[in-house]
Order: sequence, then C-alpha cells, then structure tokens
Amino acid sequence: MTTRPGSQADAGPPAPQPAALRAVFLVGFMGAGKTSVGEALGRLLGWPFEDLDDRVQAREGRTIQQIFEESGEAAFRRAENTALRELLAEHGDVARVVALGGGAFVQPENAALLQRQGLPAVFLDAAPEELFERCRQDQQPERPLRRDLEQFRRLYDLRRPHYLKASLRVDTSGKDVESVAEEIVSRLGLR
Ligand code: S3P
Repeated sequence: MTTRPGSQADAGPPAPQPAALRAVFLVGFMGAGKTSVGEALGRLLGWPFEDLDDRVQAREGRTIQQIFEESGEAAFRRAENTALRELLAEHGDVARVVALGGGAFVQPENAALLQRQGLPAVFLDAAPEELFERCRQDQQPERPLRRDLEQFRRLYDLRRPHYLKASLRVDTSGKDVESVAEEIVSRLGLR
C-alpha cells in the first residue's frame, strides 16, 4: 500500500447512513493496514483512533506474543472479546476509529456486537501474498499467527468469508494509506 490508487474497490452491501455513524471499525487480515489506515482516517475525520490490540496488551500487562506463548490463543481471544466489550461500553456517542486485530471480526460474537450497535465494519483487503510481504517488511508487531506463506494463505482463505460480512470491502492493493482513508470517507458518506 504505497503507490497511488489503481483499481476500483468493490461495491459491498449497503453502508449505514451517515447520521447513524458514531465510529468506524477496520477489519481484515494481518498486514491489511488497519492501524496505519485507521490513524489516517482518524486524522481526516478529526476522530480519535484506537487499536484494540493495544487495549488488550494494556489490560493484560503483556504483549500479544506473551499472551499467545504463556496462555494460548483461546485466552487471547477471550481477552480480545473483553476488551471489545469494554471499548463499546465506554463508547457512548463519542466518534472514533478503531482497528481490530486480524482475528477479532472472525469471532461471531465480536461481529455480532458491532452489528447489534449498527457500527460499520470496513474490510481492508489485499492478496495474501501482498499481505505476507507487508508483514515481513513491518516486522512489528510480532505476529504469532504468521508463519510460512502456505499457512498464511490457508488462514486467509478460511477467514475471508467472515471479513466479507463487513459493511464495506476496500481493495487496498497498490494504494497508499491516505487514498484508502479517503475512499472510506467517501464510500461511507462521512463528508
Ligand atoms: C491476529 C492478528 C494480530 C493480533 C494477533 C492475532 C490474528 O493483529 O491481534 O497477533 O489472529 O490475525 P494484526 O491484524 O493487527 O496484525
């Protein structure tokens, strides 16, 4: 996601009406750019940005890597769900942009929480090979669920149908972060 836009994003299911929008949740696989696009979107809208993984780490007093190593993925998922519930409970009418970790929206209870509150989820998509490469270049944060390309592709394929339940899908291939943020603003009718 470094060059200017090339391709048009797909039309997804109808997006929520602007009047109902109090927050935007960014979902998608590892390397999708949820954090960098979220920061850019927050700047564009003048809304605060929050990364759910940061909240999980702060609540647990451990890094994601440590949670996986010491307590396993199931414990991480519970912590993630608790953090999301907490975030939504304190949410009120404050507008904000939130990036979810790559597996969060795949958990039906998390997707249902957003849906019940009419909060739009935006799926940032790209080919798994590109996502894998972006993670390799990033190196940070450490991603316990990114091993080799074969395993990465399989997990992406398993998860994609869940991501497609988001309100909007944005193809990020070959686009820079600002273009993706602007596309979200325009397609959600945020200005
Ligand atoms: C995960 C993705 C990570 C983080 C954790 C698990 C996943 O977030 O939540 O390592 O299950 O795909 P990013 O998508 O921000 O890397």
